[in-house]
Formats: sequence, C-alpha cells, structure tokens
Amino acid sequence: MTDDFAARRAAARQRLDAIDPAKSGKLDDPYRHDWFRAVYDLAEGDEAAVPWADKQAHPLLRDWLDSRPISNLRALDVGCGLGDNAEALAAAGAQTTAFDLSEDAISWAKRRFPQSRVDYRAADLFSPPAEWRQAFDFVHECYTLQALPNRLLPEAGGALASFLKPGGRLLVIARSRPNPAAPDGPPWPLARGDIEGLTAHGLILESLEELAPPDEPAHWRALYRRAA
Ligand SMILES: C[S@@+](CC[C@H](N)C(=O)[O-])C[C@H]1O[C@@H](n2cnc3c(N)ncnc32)[C@H](O)[C@@H]1O
Repeated sequence: MTDDFAARRAAARQRLDAIDPAKSGKLDDPYRHDWFRAVYDLAEGDEAAVPWADKQAHPLLRDWLDSRPISNLRALDVGCGLGDNAEALAAAGAQTTAFDLSEDAISWAKRRFPQSRVDYRAADLFSPPAEWRQAFDFVHECYTLQALPNRLLPEAGGALASFLKPGGRLLVIARSRPNPAAPDGPPWPLARGDIEGLTAHGLILESLEELAPPDEPAHWRALYRRAA
C-alpha cells in the first residue's frame, strides 16, 4: 500500500464512520443496507475508499485454496465486494457466482475483471434468488458475517446454509474475538460460540483454525459441511 493510498483510505474511513449510525449504536437499519450502499457510492471509483478492498484475495483463502481442490465445483462468494475472492475461486477452477447487495460494487467488479468467468450478481443475502437454494457445492464468505450485528447471525447462518447442496461445504473467514460477550461494533468479530452456533442450520463443523494473517489480528477459518 503506497502512502497516498493509505492516506486516502484513512480519510475514507473517517468519512464513512461519520455517516455510520451503527458506530453510535443506532441500528434503525439493522441490515446496514444504506451504509454498505453508501460506501461504494461515495468511493467514486477509488478502491482506497472501500475499507475492505485489498485488491487481492484474502491470504487465508489463497492459502486454503492451495491445498483444497475446488475445480469444477459450483461455488458462491457471498458479499463479494470488488471481486478479488471470487476471482480466486474462479482461478482455482470453480464455476463461480458472486453477489453483493450493492449494485455499484457489482458493476465495479465487472469493470475490474472484464474477462472474468465469474457470474457477478446484485442480490441480498437475506432475500436471495430462489434458484440458489441448495444449488452450490461450495460457499465462501469473508467478513460479511462480522459486518452484521451479532443478533443477525442466526438469520445469516440460515441463509448461508440454504445455498448448499447436501454434502456441500461452507468456508467462513472472519476476525475472532476471545470474549464471548457481545462486542461494540462495527465490525463485530466472531466468538467461538458464534462459529459453533452456525451448526444449528444443519451444518457440521469439519475444521476450525484460529490464525493470524500477516499484520492482522487473529481470524477464524471455519469449514462446515452440510449434512447429507
Ligand atoms: C466487509 S465487506 C467484505 C467484502 C468482501 N467479502 C471482502 O472480503 O473483501 C461486506 C460486504 O458484504 C456486502 N453485504 C452486506 N450486506 C449484504 C447483504 N445483505 N447481502 C449481500 N451482500 C451484503 C457489502 O456490500 C460488502 O461488500
């Protein structure tokens, strides 16, 4: 990250925090739709102004893909933002669909990757297209759960599980928190209990790692399988 990029990112974070009601504990828009849409709208095409856009796939996803074949699987990337994780799934050979709430994010991802094989769609995790029900072998989500208030986790977990075919797998990457008490967010890093709680939706927790990517706090990388 250049100094100039870092300065633009810091300024954007300040602007975005100032218009984020959740920062002062107000959750009149509990799904935070307006704020997420505003992030992409106000960025005006500057990736530095999208706080999570690292212009590369998440290191914990890249590392995982190095040892797990997903070639030819039908994959879904949830809350795909500007598309780097979805592109990594497609590069690993998966037939990839990726979606985000923000139409601006989706058109931006398409502009960034004009030759992409990813099917980018604007859609809402909480009211997804009916044809996605039990349609995917592999679902990936990075940082979307932790961007939602903790009390939405059961609904979000149910939606993630609904995308999986029986026997399909879900990979979750999120910051971890040691304390089970609800954190002051956003973001709302996940406690071990939150990760385990996703098993309420017919998911079996196959592996759970707590890892620290370079220059980052501790993260969960959790792999679930949908019961057959
Ligand atoms: C913290 S960002 C993470 C983006 C990306 N997964 C990454 O790791 O860089 C959360 C993303 O989820 C999207 N999002 C939030 N709520 C959503 C919803 N209900 N349905 C679909 N996408 C949503 C936001 O627009 C945003 O792009």
